[in-house]
Formats: sequence, structure tokens, C-alpha cells
Amino acid sequence: MAQTARIAVTPGDGIGPEVVAEAVRCLETLRAKHDLALEWTRFPWPSHAWHEEYGESWPKDALQQLKAYDAILLGALGDPGPIDDTNRYLLSDSVSLAPLLEMRKGFDQWVCERPARLLPGARQYLKDDRAKDIDMLVIRENSEGEYVSQGGRLRQGTPDEVATQMEVFTRRATERIIRYGFEQARQRAAERVQDGRTRSFHRYDGSTCESQVCLITKRNALRYWGDMYTEVFEEIAREYPDVATHHELVDAACMKFVSSPWAFDVVVASNLQGDILTDLAAVISGGMGVAPSCNLNPTDPDMPSMFEPTHGSAPDIAGQGIADPTAMLFTTARMLDWLGRKAPTLAQAGKELFDAVAADLAEHGGDRRATREIGDAICKRLAP
Ligand code: IPM
Ligand code: MN
Repeated sequence: MAQTARIAVTPGDGIGPEVVAEAVRCLETLRAKHDLALEWTRFPWPSHAWHEEYGESWPKDALQQLKAYDAILLGALGDPGPIDDTNRYLLSDSVSLAPLLEMRKGFDQWVCERPARLLPGARQYLKDDRAKDIDMLVIRENSEGEYVSQGGRLRQGTPDEVATQMEVFTRRATERIIRYGFEQARQRAAERVQDGRTRSFHRYDGSTCESQVCLITKRNALRYWGDMYTEVFEEIAREYPDVATHHELVDAACMKFVSSPWAFDVVVASNLQGDILTDLAAVISGGMGVAPSCNLNPTDPDMPSMFEPTHGSAPDIAGQGIADPTAMLFTTARMLDWLGRKAPTLAQAGKELFDAVAADLAEHGGDRRATREIGDAICKRLAP
């Protein structure tokens, strides 16, 4: 029998627990149906509630505890809401979100994958009907760059204060993220062939390829890491003659994500630039309510990867039972797919969950439904 995959479920704050509850119900349904070798443990931390009680967002040995799991399924961290409760226990963002960054760093989850595909039923924010063909994968460097958290404040609070915030880019991290992008481009092209879909991307010489990697930088202003990214990109691209290459400056990329998003396939960006671009990518592919995200460590099997939707704790709607669990469920499907690298039945269950959520979206996209109602409908589709 396959080894049991173990999941740490961390619902977090705000709508996190509401959408995670539906993810767990779907996992229960799938486990019962296929007798999956899957188990999970729910943690009340990291969260505002834990901080209110114990004075810290999570226990000192939290990372050690989480390391025993194969994956972490995270709801959301941040303002717990409800927004009209002005007396609610509220931490600053840098405190409440710190565990998220510590997990990414502590488990070296160096890839953040954010697919943006406009599925039938999802809200089409862009008027141009070619927007129906949006199907990109934004790969965000998740281990360094603008997020290294090095720097400080000198002469704090005085008129002569100086704040420094360092950015660090290493060749090693640059190489691994760019190579990962090319591998994904190849894999996506192969999957499209299997599904009978094709796409065509132009090379600079006019010829066409089945897939593309677009590198994002701001090398016209941030030249040191921009030039290193460009050199590494060109070196690695030579190993993938079947994949078209492209480069965009991040500001132009924002513009093109809106004016011609269907022209992108795989996009590789730095930590901060990828963060910003993926909010935009989420909106043009249906909104935050449907946008999945994964923080992956593809190289060390002893490190858990973390699965959390792109959206936050949504304090404006928290506690009302109206949050859309779709993004959380698509994220859960990707978690199963990831765990399925070792256990094909889990990958199969991931596909089943994706198909059920997509079918629900196609039928009910745009309907006003409660969180629980959406979960019910999807569990019903999954039930034997
Ligand atoms: C995200 C979030 C986080 C990030 C914040 C909450 C620190 O915006 O996951 O995209 O910037 O990475
Ligand atoms: Mn973000």
C-alpha cells in the first residue's frame, strides 16, 4: 500500500476557515470514495486568534511541527474582520503575514506557481473576446529577491531617518527558477497535445513554437539583477530550442496582460514583480475568487510545499458565509496533483476535484451562492 500522505491544515484568519472547511469536505468525499491514503491534522495557528491568546502568531516550534507533513493547506492570513468591528483584535500586516514568509523561506519553497486560465463560467473582466483564450502560468521566484527582508531603519523617527531595504539575487536561484519555467513550458505543450489543443508562439525570427517562456525584469532601471536574469535566461534557453523566448519589462507586461493576455504562456518573474503581476493575472482570469496558488519545493522531498489561494483573509466579507471557496478548491486540486507525484491515485483525485470545480463554475459562475452551498454542489458531483 502507498505511504499515507499527511497534510497540515492551517485555516488561518478571516475567510480562511470558511473556505478551508469546504476543501476538507471535498477531501473527505474523495478519500471515502477512493480509499485514498491521505490524512490531515488541523492547526489553530498561525492566526490572530492564537496571537490574542498566546501573544505570538504560532508556537516557537511551528516550523518543526509542520516539517513532519507532506503538504500544508493554508486558508488565508491577515485582518480577520469583520471590518465594522472596530474593536477587533488586529495585528499589523507585517506581523500577521510573517508566518507565510517564514514558511516559504524555512521550507525553501522556491517556486510560486500561479496559473491564470479563464475557465467557462468565470467572470470575463476584459471585453475583448480573445480574452477567453487566457491560459498562462506565472512562475514567481519565491526565495529571495525583493523579499529577503534585509535592511533597517537608521535614526528612526527623526527628520534624518534612513530606511534601507535590500534586494538580493543569486545566480543559483535565478538558474533554478528559469529552468523550472522552461520545463513547465515543455510540459504544458505536451499536455495540450494530449488534450488536442494547440497554441502557437512566434520566435523573433518569425518561426513558431508550441510554447513560450516570457522573462520579466526591469532591466532598464534595475540593471544588475536585470542583466544577470537576461544572461541566465539566454544560456538556459539554448537547451530548449523547442520553446520560444520573450522578454518584457514589468511595466509593459502589466499593460500587455490587459491588452493581449492571450499572447502569454509561461511567465517567469522576480518575487515582488511576480506578486504584483499575479494579482493582475488573477483578475483577468476571473478574479481572486477563482485564483489558485502553490508554494513549491521541487528539489527536497523532505520539505513540505504549501498550498494557499492567491486571495487574502477578505475582512470585508469574513464571517458571513459568502466567500467563494472556488480558489481554495482549485488550490486543493493542485495539492493533490503535487502529492500525486508519489501516488498516482492522489493525482487522479486531484484531476477529479479540478473537473468538479470547473464543472460547477461553468454551470453556476456568476450565481450568488453561500460558501456552503458551493461546497455542497461540488461534493455532490464528487460523490460516488
Ligand atoms: C501573496 C501575498 C503575500 C506576498 C503577502 C501577504 C506577504 O500578497 O501571497 O501574494 O506578497 O507574497
Ligand atoms: Mn500578493
